Amino acid sequence: MKRREFLQNGAAAACGILLVKPATAFTYQANSAVRLGLLGCGNRGTAVATSFSHSTSARVVALADLFPDNLERGRGHFDQLNASLGHAPIDAKLLFHGPQAYEQLAASTGVDLIQISTPPFFHVQHLEAAVAAGKHVYCEKPVGIDVSQARHALEIAGRVKPGQSVDVGFQCRSAPPFASIVEKINAGALGKIASVTANYNAPASLEKLRAGESPDEYRLRNWLWDRALSGDILVEQNIHIIDLCNWILKAHPVSATATGGRNVLTHAGDCWDNYQVDFTYPGDIHLSFSSTQFGEGGFDAGLKLFGAGGSATIPYSGPVAITGPQPWAWQDSTSTTPGSGKFAANGSFADNLEFADRDKERTFIASITSGPAHNQIAAGVETALSCMLGRMAGLTRREVTWDDLLAHGETYKLGMDMNQFA
Ligand SMILES: NC(=O)c1ccc[n+]([C@@H]2O[C@H](COP(=O)([O-])OP(=O)(O)OC[C@H]3O[C@@H](n4cnc5c(N)ncnc54)[C@H](O)[C@@H]3O)[C@@H](O)[C@H]2O)c1
Repeated sequence: MKRREFLQNGAAAACGILLVKPATAFTYQANSAVRLGLLGCGNRGTAVATSFSHSTSARVVALADLFPDNLERGRGHFDQLNASLGHAPIDAKLLFHGPQAYEQLAASTGVDLIQISTPPFFHVQHLEAAVAAGKHVYCEKPVGIDVSQARHALEIAGRVKPGQSVDVGFQCRSAPPFASIVEKINAGALGKIASVTANYNAPASLEKLRAGESPDEYRLRNWLWDRALSGDILVEQNIHIIDLCNWILKAHPVSATATGGRNVLTHAGDCWDNYQVDFTYPGDIHLSFSSTQFGEGGFDAGLKLFGAGGSATIPYSGPVAITGPQPWAWQDSTSTTPGSGKFAANGSFADNLEFADRDKERTFIASITSGPAHNQIAAGVETALSCMLGRMAGLTRREVTWDDLLAHGETYKLGMDMNQFA
């Protein structure tokens, strides 16, 4: 299948539902709380479900996790949170653990929305169950770790029903400073774009150890180090920056060359600790991307676009600005203490992503309660495939085109029987 067809099959299904009001397919009452079931009670899942509870009408009513200890920790946290918000504790009938927990959660009638925050290898399997059960879904990135999962996700995109809303966790697109500068770029502030540079340098993730655990359990708890479980650092973490680039350039890369390796990491796993990728976008626009993930340093991530009429700087932390004949800098109009900001010209926030989750969640819940519904699966797949393109170029040490990637149809195996955790 050609690259356009590959994505359009999913995108067509996605576009088809945009005009349908939720009431057409659901008896959902716009004024009642959206009942959220969290699948994967780890760091990100807990943070996002907590943020949903504070920022929107969503209420956490169900939890599911592979491991009983993580489920129990989640229960303690959300019972306390619900109490602080005047809501009931989680019903014991809506607590699930084990390898079938995702199916039990999907089958729960008291749940409207499933938030998928499990390791990336499981996202598409979990998405399929949630979509088939007619739930709204908030699925963390990446949508798939290999080409065969990406194809599967596009089939699922076509099964999303009218009024059913599915978001993918690219919250950076909702960060107010980023949304503002992208609007400027779309309006032509940079003129013809010549090239892009970007980086993602991040500290290593910490080892999680549990007494008496098997090698498979160790792998699952330390999934960030494992290529099959995570997709590697390009697909799992660097994906946010590649997504911003795709969004701004309104395209995915057509080819990539790359290098990288595992030069300093000595712990278990097979993920690389650095990548250098040259992505070619339509119009011969090149994105020179580099990433590292090791050590104890801070986060340094962002991109710069260079155009005939100026350049744009878009970092996670630091001034978001356009330089050139018509300079522009992000101003935080919500600040009540002008001048105190660390980065914004007159703002108070310390990080450009501070409101990204909140604003993403509010838009998503509005798509459920008042429509139009979202279906972001195809867009999520497009960005995941873009990262897989860079990964394949790095692993094979040759130029890989988008069509090569799709024709290759790479498939990673989990290499363990999940029933051992029943
Ligand atoms: N959007 C962002 O900025 C962002 C940031 C961090 C993480 N993430 C994504 O969020 C997801 C979760 O990351 P995390 O940091 O919370 O990981 P984590 O390890 O802290 O949590 C994962 C949880 O999933 C559970 N789990 C593992 N396999 C499962 C299965 N088969 N069924 C049910 N539960 C299972 C684990 O027991 C654990 O509680 C990942 O996809 C990651 O890429 C996104």
